[in-house]
Amino acid sequence: MGDIDQFLKNTQNALPHDNIKQFIEIERKTGNAIDLGCGSGRDTVFLIKNNWNVLAIDREDTREMIEKKLNKLEIERFRFSCQNFENVELEENDLVVSNYSIPFCSKNYFYEFWNKIVESISSNRILCRKLFWIK
Ligand SMILES: C[S@@+](CC[C@H](N)C(=O)[O-])C[C@H]1O[C@@H](n2cnc3c(N)ncnc32)[C@H](O)[C@@H]1O
Repeated sequence: MGDIDQFLKNTQNALPHDNIKQFIEIERKTGNAIDLGCGSGRDTVFLIKNNWNVLAIDREDTREMIEKKLNKLEIERFRFSCQNFENVELEENDLVVSNYSIPFCSKNYFYEFWNKIVESISSNRILCRKLFWIK
């Protein structure tokens, strides 16, 4: 089993990240979110269960893994797109979530990727992300 498979297995029942939980506590409006590098969907699922529409994007096809955690009504608020950050196409949205994923974009494409993120966020103009750090 490769690293990514192990990661997806380990996180398949993981709770949402704190920044998303806090975001939901303070933001009453819902809308259209993109979860970049959604992995096994811990944040995607939480947003959907809190009435957001989510386009989840990852280069690994985790669609089924995520759908299993959603009921019929919730699945209507879920879309999945298997894409690489390096040539990703983003649609207009109210929220971009990208926990522990942005730094995986190849260096040569990073600024293009970042600009696409900034240009895609519309009305609420919110970006929730966690990067990496060295302790
Ligand atoms: C550390 S995981 C984080 C997953 C999820 N956001 C979480 O917090 O559980 C990084 C995710 O980014 C995805 N990823 C890494 N490089 C990518 C790339 N170049 N394009 C698209 N997805 C990528 C991986 O497949 C993985 O699901």
